[in-house]
Amino acid sequence: MSTKARLAIEGGTPAKKRKDPPMFPGGMAVGPEEEEAVLEVVRSRCLFRHYGPPPGPGKAAELEQAFAAFMGARYAVAVTSGTAALITGLHAIGVGPGDEVIIPAYTWIASATAVMAVGAVPVIAEVDETLTLDPADVERKITPYTRAIMPVHMRGVPCRMAELTDIAHRHGCRIIEDTAQADGGSYRGRRLGTLGDVGCFSLQFNKIITCGEGGIVLTDQEEVWKRALMYHDPVSALRFPPEETLAGVNYRLSELQAAVALVQLRRLEGLLEAMCERKRVLKGGLEAVVRRKGLSFRELADPEGDTAIALVFFASSAQKAQRIAEALSAENIGAGVLYRPDRIDYHVYAHWAPVLEQRTWTPSGGPWRWARRDIRYSPDMCPRTLDLLGRAVHLDVSPLLSNEDVEETLEGANKVLEALA
Ligand SMILES: Cc1ncc(COP(=O)(O)O)c(C=O)c1O
Repeated sequence: MSTKARLAIEGGTPAKKRKDPPMFPGGMAVGPEEEEAVLEVVRSRCLFRHYGPPPGPGKAAELEQAFAAFMGARYAVAVTSGTAALITGLHAIGVGPGDEVIIPAYTWIASATAVMAVGAVPVIAEVDETLTLDPADVERKITPYTRAIMPVHMRGVPCRMAELTDIAHRHGCRIIEDTAQADGGSYRGRRLGTLGDVGCFSLQFNKIITCGEGGIVLTDQEEVWKRALMYHDPVSALRFPPEETLAGVNYRLSELQAAVALVQLRRLEGLLEAMCERKRVLKGGLEAVVRRKGLSFRELADPEGDTAIALVFFASSAQKAQRIAEALSAENIGAGVLYRPDRIDYHVYAHWAPVLEQRTWTPSGGPWRWARRDIRYSPDMCPRTLDLLGRAVHLDVSPLLSNEDVEETLEGANKVLEALA
């Protein structure tokens, strides 16, 4: 057998000549425009959103307007992180002590800790083959105390929003979308983050667009916007009649970060187009082997709304998935499995020991002391999620992959799946 036909993991020549570029879509696009935007703010000496020397600041306000317009929402509030956006969003829709919020078993731990930070308790539900909230399990886990459902558009794809919205309406719950990983994605023609009562975004470096650290709260509802504004900034609270104000904290975004985020927002459409095109070719080129080998791709609640940051398929066992991922990496293809019991990863609930064990910052207790029923967690409470994630092989779809990279990826992935799936 030629060294090219042999798997790289078994001593053959890697199908891909170079490793994938780092998977930071917006981060890798940072260039002269971001530099200029930062310099403009520095030169103006207006680093704070509310005041500075004339003509005064304006980047955070401009970002809020541009973000809301791009996504198709009435209001946006710029905050310091995705976690801050979730906490602000939860306060804005009135979630607090004694309330339950249903979150998926596959999401960054911040989805859980944001709920805890407002004094409510997370209720962890299974994901399905979309790797997002399973509506059937949400329905099972609803109680009279469920105040909100948090669909997380994980790894760039939309949740089953029609089913989740229907459940929320029937049970009188609010919807807070965690859109941290899916900027610009959509569901049935509407941008993610605009389908629930409030949408929360992250602009952290690993996200589709970035300003290093940052977040956005999005809503169509004036009351939710007012509350978000007041919670994230006591100065903004002064805009409202004194008898209506609530006391907030400080999650304001700086002008420097807002300036970078504005440039990145202008890049978003182009990044999405580049990833969608590459993913279309990659998926098309793997369809035959996936079908022949009895594998399946991750399901998509709305294929049109996929941001296409990743291509995920399920192997028949976790053991096979790990071997396939290792073999793909040896071919220089950016790949991995989504869950390994032996590797702590805060994207998987089973690794959230501080949450599962209900560890608290003070001996007097955490949010569970206000829960209106006994809530318990265990690492094996969502077996379907662990099974799916353990079998899920994940390929990064960088917008920087060249045509040659895509061709070589297909060559390597086909070789690996023929041999190992
Ligand atoms: C799904 C999800 N939710 C929330 C967050 C929190 O965002 P941040 O890191 O900006 O606080 C992240 C990212 O880290 C995330 O991936």
